[in-house]
Amino acid sequence: MEEIEVCICRRISLEDILSAIEMGGIDDVEALIEKTGAGSVCKMCISPQHDPYGERDIHLTELLK
Ligand code: FES
Repeated sequence: MEEIEVCICRRISLEDILSAIEMGGIDDVEALIEKTGAGSVCKMCISPQHDPYGERDIHLTELLK
């Protein structure tokens, strides 16, 4: 199966993000960034607001809902 990369800068996959959320203890996007390292470089993968030109397909805030 092809791996979907959510955070291009840190090379963090959708699977990595979802398993971090599944493990629990992540209440908000800041906790998710801290736990996975995603969103800590260009920040575009954090939310659509951080990505005004739509350069990322998936954002951390959308995965937390
Ligand atoms: S794509 Fe996630 S910090 Fe750049």
